[in-house]
Amino acid sequence: GARPRVLSGIQPTAGSFHLGNYLGAVRQWVALQDTHDAFYMVVDLHAITVPQDPAELRANTRLAAAQLLAAGLDPERCTLFVQSHVPEHAQLAWIMNCLTGFGEASRMTQFKDKSAKQGADRASVGLFTYPILQVADILLYQANEVPVGEDQRQHIELTRDLAERFNGRFGATFTVPAPHILKEVAKIYDLQDPAIKMSKSASTPKGLINLLDEPKATAKKVKSAVTDTDTVIRYDTVHKPGVSNLLTIYATLTGTGIPELEQKYAGKGYGALKTDLAEAMVEFVTPFKERTQAYLDDPETLDSILAKGAEKARAVAAETLAQAYEKVGF
Ligand code: ADP
Ligand code: NA
Repeated sequence: GARPRVLSGIQPTAGSFHLGNYLGAVRQWVALQDTHDAFYMVVDLHAITVPQDPAELRANTRLAAAQLLAAGLDPERCTLFVQSHVPEHAQLAWIMNCLTGFGEASRMTQFKDKSAKQGADRASVGLFTYPILQVADILLYQANEVPVGEDQRQHIELTRDLAERFNGRFGATFTVPAPHILKEVAKIYDLQDPAIKMSKSASTPKGLINLLDEPKATAKKVKSAVTDTDTVIRYDTVHKPGVSNLLTIYATLTGTGIPELEQKYAGKGYGALKTDLAEAMVEFVTPFKERTQAYLDDPETLDSILAKGAEKARAVAAETLAQAYEKVGF
């Protein structure tokens, strides 16, 4: 039968993707191209829930798309597009806004976290309804599965609730997506402080691996990663978080099992592991950086890929929206 449809998005952020974005998300997207009917988007509508400089937003959106292509997304095997190129996202989001209770939206914990960071008075209403735009993103494509991390579980539950609510009130319209929580997916930690997730906003400068940094600088960061005073290479996230993080990165990047790595490095010191991992990292980031730059140097090709992607996406989105409009009484 038809392959299950999957949808996922990534924000256009300043600078490059970091290693956590790649190993924890983008790498899975690449794999899902061959088993799923995959729709991937750069979510620039979501980006403006916090203030953005227009020129930077435009550049960051293209940079994100270039990196997704460089990472292995193939426009022949997936639909890659920019969210704002498909106006149906905002249109369906309005209907979903009107179907969501204010209290229900208020219970979304990510808004509480994010608005607390900005100060409650400065947070936008867009930030508040962000999960509802996400609901529209998913339902527009009748996605069966949404690959997300644990932190997004609540938003997928909201998606299911709203799909069922709409279907119940107006008649069967939307596929109710399964929460395809990527539990087994690698979670990458800061190289200098393995108690915190590697993240653009929270990481230490030397603990964050940006994929577009100079490969030499990346190798240096790997080699100066925090380990412990012991010398045993063992996966133990409680007692050896630094070493475990390096093992996770190495295993995910090279497709080697962690037990295999533990064996390989038995009796050797951390230096050997770091040297090999640094080398594997350089082998990965060097062509990644080159491919990204090649797309950025050829904006016509990049724009044409994104225009075709938007066209493919719109064909699906417009049909779903037309059904929803009809049902609602428009
Ligand atoms: P950041 O936390 O740096 O702001 P995002 O929240 O924009 O990154 O994450 C984009 C994607 O990358 C999400 O799917 C998220 O789950 C994944 N991701 C981000 N950081 C990590 C990490 N440290 N380990 C694994 N996956 C991550
Ligand atoms: Na984040």
